[in-house]
Amino acid sequence: MATTTADTDAMRRAITLAARALGATSPNPVVGCVILDAAGELAGEGHHQRAGGPHAEIHALREAGDRAAGGTAYVTLEPCNHTGRTGPCAQALIKAGVARVVFAVGDPNPQATGGADTLRAASVRVERGLLAEEAEAGNAAWLTSVRLGRPYVLWKYAATLDGRIAAADATSRWITSAESRADVHRLRAEADAVVVGSGTVRADDPHLAVRDIAGAVQPLRVVVDTGATAVRPGARVLDGAAPTLIAVAEDADTTHLKAAGPGGEPVDVARLPRAGRGLSVPALLADLHARGVRSVLLEGGPTLAGAFVAAGAVDKVVGYLAPVLLGAGPAALGDAGITTLARALRLRMTETVRVGPDLRVTATPERTTTARGYEPATPVSTASAVATPKER
Ligand SMILES: NC(=O)c1ccc[n+]([C@@H]2O[C@H](COP(=O)([O-])OP(=O)(O)OC[C@H]3O[C@@H](n4cnc5c(N)ncnc54)[C@H](OP(=O)(O)O)[C@@H]3O)[C@@H](O)[C@H]2O)c1
Repeated sequence: MATTTADTDAMRRAITLAARALGATSPNPVVGCVILDAAGELAGEGHHQRAGGPHAEIHALREAGDRAAGGTAYVTLEPCNHTGRTGPCAQALIKAGVARVVFAVGDPNPQATGGADTLRAASVRVERGLLAEEAEAGNAAWLTSVRLGRPYVLWKYAATLDGRIAAADATSRWITSAESRADVHRLRAEADAVVVGSGTVRADDPHLAVRDIAGAVQPLRVVVDTGATAVRPGARVLDGAAPTLIAVAEDADTTHLKAAGPGGEPVDVARLPRAGRGLSVPALLADLHARGVRSVLLEGGPTLAGAFVAAGAVDKVVGYLAPVLLGAGPAALGDAGITTLARALRLRMTETVRVGPDLRVTATPERTTTARGYEPATPVSTASAVATPKER
């Protein structure tokens, strides 16, 4: 059956609905669904709002009621075929009498795949691939995490036009505008975890929680602090506004963190193997993945960002460039093990947007992370108290 404008409009609406829950559904994907009745009129729509809650199809079927019979369901991801915390969506669509299902992206999750076959076996017409690229982009974090077995990593930095992220005296507040900083809070809200290195905590004592976004689910704040020396009792990341995890070396002394959480609770600690200048980046990502983190916002600083780039573990870069010159001070990215132009990590610019007086540049590596040799680490031991990225 040829794709119509109504099909495209319905799928685009489903993609928009899915995006509403970015940062709130981990470890699940974001999914949107639109149901048109047999006459092609909108009958129901919905999106997956949180893990453990109804899937998008179920929300849309509830809204559509009897009008789903003989209609078409547009779903951004292949309807699931398994019973997890909720029942299989493929069966629900069949039971409601939906005649046709159009989905954008196949489900790569081995436990959930097969929904299309189940639908076909029940004589439902199934089409895949409509607006697949847009739907993939909307679900990039989750799809990457399923394919690579580690969270998707977005590295964000704020720099002067000459690429400095701090002045020579280490002052870095504020290079970019209030508008750019507000935009960063949106990125935090869309991420499951926000990660910084010990150098940034020492220099800035950052808070890293989301502010001024209604309904935002707070990300897990993660400090990579090998020797457990940067995060001291009273640090702003320990204020309880969001969950916090300190990643330390296996042999680090964390006695001072035993009662440094809000209300004197112990601070969650992940013990990881050392590698190079600090902790193993693949081990850190494997640990976060095991905690349900599917997307990471890496907020620096340049040394830790260099280690992520060297590990092939940056999937997207968002740079906020301010019309400011410094001429001295650290560059946005530290040593990433690249010594010659032939080995430069080339990116594809995907977006440039004015944010207040600044420019926001978004780019993704041309080579995939797997092509750069990223290998998910084997699971590593963590402290018994496991911090979850989001309250569910
Ligand atoms: N404008 C911006 O966007 C922005 C963002 C963030 C920071 N900053 C600025 O950047 C400066 C701090 O930068 P920084 O580079 O010193 O700090 P950083 O990247 O936040 O932290 C670096 C430290 O992380 C630890 N680490 C743990 N595992 C590591 C690994 N695998 N590879 C590398 N390091 C690892 C190391 O110390 P240990 O091993 O001792 O723990 C290392 O010295 C400050 O001036 C801050 O204001 C600016």
